[in-house]
Amino acid sequence: MITNTELEYKGNLYPNQVTDYQKDSDKFYLTTENGVILEITVIRNSVLRFRYATQHTFEPDFSYAIDPDASRGFNELLEEETTTDYRIFTSKLQILVDKKTLRVQISDLEGNILNEDELGFHWEENYEHGGNTVKMSKITQPSESFYGMGDKATHTNLKGRRVHNWVTDQYAYGKDQEPLYKAVPFFIGLHDNRAYGIFFDNTFRTHFDFSHERRNITSFWADGGEMNYYFFYGPAISRVVQAYTDLTGTPELPPLWSLGYHQSKWSYYPEKRVKEIARKFRKLKIPCDALYLDIDYMDGFRCFTWDKKHFPDPKRMISELEEEGFKTVVMIDPGIKVDREYSVYQEGMENDYFCKRADGPVMTGKVWPGPCAFPDYTDPKVREWWAGLYESFIKDSGLHAVWNDMNEPAVMEVPTKTAPLDTRHNYDGNPCSHRKAHNIYGMQMVRATYDGVKKYVFPKRPFVITRAAYAGTQRFACTWTGDNVATWEHLWIANVQVQRMCMSGYSFVGSDIGGFAEQPNGELFARWVQLGVFHPFCRVHSSGDHGDQEPWSFDAEVTGIVRKFIELRYQLLPYLYTMFWRYAKEGVPMLKSLVYYDQEDTQTHFRTDEFVFGDHFLVCPIQEPNAKGRRMYIPRGNWYNFWTGELVTGGSERWVASDIDKIPLFIKEGAIIPKYPVQQYVGEKTIEQLTLSVYYKEGDEQSTIYEDAGEGYDYKKGGYSVRNFRLRGKPKELIIQQFKDGTYITPYKSFKINLNGLPFKISKVEVDNEKVPLESVRLNGDNSIEVDKNFNVLHLIGR
Ligand code: NOJ
Repeated sequence: MITNTELEYKGNLYPNQVTDYQKDSDKFYLTTENGVILEITVIRNSVLRFRYATQHTFEPDFSYAIDPDASRGFNELLEEETTTDYRIFTSKLQILVDKKTLRVQISDLEGNILNEDELGFHWEENYEHGGNTVKMSKITQPSESFYGMGDKATHTNLKGRRVHNWVTDQYAYGKDQEPLYKAVPFFIGLHDNRAYGIFFDNTFRTHFDFSHERRNITSFWADGGEMNYYFFYGPAISRVVQAYTDLTGTPELPPLWSLGYHQSKWSYYPEKRVKEIARKFRKLKIPCDALYLDIDYMDGFRCFTWDKKHFPDPKRMISELEEEGFKTVVMIDPGIKVDREYSVYQEGMENDYFCKRADGPVMTGKVWPGPCAFPDYTDPKVREWWAGLYESFIKDSGLHAVWNDMNEPAVMEVPTKTAPLDTRHNYDGNPCSHRKAHNIYGMQMVRATYDGVKKYVFPKRPFVITRAAYAGTQRFACTWTGDNVATWEHLWIANVQVQRMCMSGYSFVGSDIGGFAEQPNGELFARWVQLGVFHPFCRVHSSGDHGDQEPWSFDAEVTGIVRKFIELRYQLLPYLYTMFWRYAKEGVPMLKSLVYYDQEDTQTHFRTDEFVFGDHFLVCPIQEPNAKGRRMYIPRGNWYNFWTGELVTGGSERWVASDIDKIPLFIKEGAIIPKYPVQQYVGEKTIEQLTLSVYYKEGDEQSTIYEDAGEGYDYKKGGYSVRNFRLRGKPKELIIQQFKDGTYITPYKSFKINLNGLPFKISKVEVDNEKVPLESVRLNGDNSIEVDKNFNVLHLIGR
């Protein structure tokens, strides 16, 4: 325990005796004698908010992170006062606030402590900038583990680490390097098989210490603003992640093509080169849905312009690419070239849209075109203007999607890599400096971009990508992990970053496959593609100054492997789309780290490499050269080796063979995996038949397939198709029930059902209780049958 003298020495102030207690419907206010007010809001039975004011004054309550549509409501709220504390009870939690110190303890209804303050809230006045440095310290519970926190390139379990949030252009970052491109101040704590989460919604630079400085203490603090955090109770990690994701929101369904394979480079130009790339994909029959134009398509790096020398007729080019099945994605940066002849700059100046320094002048910083001004996207009228800039840009060119880069904002040739801290922002009517607005600047840029793209590609769906992000940015954009490097270590980093982002509410994410900086060899590229096809966003991108990084840039063997894995991704599109739908609708992360998958099994708490893709695939990348396989942990349950069909029982580590043309890949027994035929791009083929790969299990398992038009908004009016399958296996029987919902009529009429691991020979088949002649359902011996897509019950009986 730190003594008061030590605290005073460190200059900290902390709350004293509670002198007033008030309840106002879902809120409780506890005021201390020295002017601290703790506001506790009960948001849901297991979601609470804690907010602290000093000097009796709260700041205006405003957040960019919180989704306006987040759920609210609880069914029980009781209070109690004892001589030592105030107590609040929901139907899931009890909260104790100590009358002498304002320290908080949160437990479940059985009295198991979930989270408790050590010193609790304390603060330091900030004489230089005004306001406080606000701090919180908690007791780390015995064998507690920590997860989440966005894009940290470090071990999945954060125990023993200290991390910081300050979105930063971190070119060629390394393992454990801090901070990176995103600020997601949300973590999950897990102890005694009970998980909780804390989201510290403070946009200043924030810091988290997970038993790094002091072994039994977890603390978090911010360089300004308020101590304002949300508490989510599990006990399952899945509940915590879903509750956090519900609060900060999910995206709408993206166009299906955005889940295909994407090819990018800095930069493909001129038009001829773009066309060559497109042609080569089709010639080599490697599926691809999107090509990216990096900054060089612009006229002198002026956003919303085209370099007419290299792209004389963008509209024609984009429509010709579209005829070949390619969407065109173009980059837009926040830095607007200081150039009096340039309309975007002119409009920005005339209307006072650019950020200004504290003493008045427009803030400028160097980016690609030289000195630039930066729109203040935290001002609603600037966002509206910015969204509007996409109108003619999209209509005149027919482009499909937009990629926002450098939106930390990145500024070159200054040690801070970003805007000066005295830069002023509107912050939606709560004027502030860059210290507060920095972490949400990129988020507000991409929000404005999203609004514009959504409006002007209508009735199609928008697809927007961002590099910088704060909690909640997932509502607007897909993201990538920034400027990584073509090394084996970075393959490891990509794997943990994407898992971590998924655990932090942000599932639509991928890495620059193959590495952005430096040149991968064929083996590394192939291994990275094998992982990348299992990431929600699947794009090869590279800085391009070290050689080519297309699927054919290595040797024929690599090209063949890359094709095979991209084909697998296209086959799995209905599975992937269903994953996305569950993420969008329920906040279920698309990838699940093993600890999420099975928190009860303590073996999973320190695993980094293995993850579950959707609900039914177990994936584990090969992360070193010359490997013929690797050791990996198979979580509990029975799993089929995807390549060999062998059924293995989990709960232990094992060696899994995996030559260069394979990745360790397993399917959970009982799963029904939907597959499309291989297409060169989404929509190339009308799906004539849906393949269902069924993996026999003795027992029950659920699988779901969500489909819709893959474009447009009909799905919002019921134009979707959900098929829920319940599989029940017995020693000589397999029963599959189908439950359908939605009005979308899928183009195919039948399923081809591939049966894996069936322990019996089929002697009788019944569809909806009617016996069907074996000849009419059998295609290939005993292992695949064809059935009408509308069946309700399929019953296979064996000998
Ligand atoms: C930095 C981005 O991270 C990278 O992806 C891009 O290629 C370059 N900027 C050039 O625009």
